[in-house]
Amino acid sequence: MELLEVNALHKSFVQAEQQVPVIRGVDMTLAAGEVVVLLGRSGGGKSTLLNLMAGIETPDSGDIRFQGEPFAELDDRGRTLIRRRRIGVIFQFFNLVPTLTVAENLQLPLQLNRQPLGGRVDAMLEALGLVGLGQRFPEQLSGGEQQRVAIGRALIHSPPLLLADEPTGSLDASSAEQVVKLLIEQVRVGGHGLLLVTHNAELAALGDRTLILEEGRLKGAPERKLS
Ligand SMILES: Nc1ncnc2c1ncn2[C@@H]1O[C@H](COP(=O)(O)OP(=O)(O)OP(=O)(O)O)[C@@H](O)[C@H]1O
Ligand SMILES: [Mg+2]
Repeated sequence: MELLEVNALHKSFVQAEQQVPVIRGVDMTLAAGEVVVLLGRSGGGKSTLLNLMAGIETPDSGDIRFQGEPFAELDDRGRTLIRRRRIGVIFQFFNLVPTLTVAENLQLPLQLNRQPLGGRVDAMLEALGLVGLGQRFPEQLSGGEQQRVAIGRALIHSPPLLLADEPTGSLDASSAEQVVKLLIEQVRVGGHGLLLVTHNAELAALGDRTLILEEGRLKGAPERKLS
């Protein structure tokens, strides 16, 4: 069974009183543990596609199956529960809770899912190179450090799927590369599936497969890369 299966997905937005199609028939699958990189021009609909997969947006038509379960048809609450338990999301701008410390931000998904904390927060701080920063607040961290916390928060409850929307968009090139490498390393270690949106075609080499969103449809190599 595929982790994620998307069929004939369509989504349009109303802009200046016009219905503008953004996603125009997307089909794709993502297998458990697979790392797929999504490229495409600005405004092409990458974030929209990711938000549909995260259940943050709903499609006009088409089908999304998450671990075989129809996802798009669920109500808000049903989609929120699946997202909370089984999908980690990383956005371009960190989205950490500013009033919580780093350690508390990392605890949040475990608490929401009623999972034991065990030593998981400390283990994650260690894995992300953030030892000693647990008691700081997000604003007391650099952009790269904040984004590492966001990665930790998305992975700490071990969701089978991680969706990352330009997680390095607000970082300089060298921290961006470090953060993406760390992200992919953690995803490989944990066996998570990852859909990674990036503008950096060089980073695409780190994935198993690259897709390009063009005119609302996916182009690229749908078959697995041989290695
Ligand atoms: N909630 C919305 N209401 C109306 N239009 C929207 C909405 N969200 C996105 N759009 C439009 O849909 C199109 C695709 O936007 P989207 O953010 O998905 O692109 P993107 O590929 O992620 O771009 P970028 O690389 O700049 O992040 C754009 O024209 C955008 O203006
Ligand atoms: Mg975007």
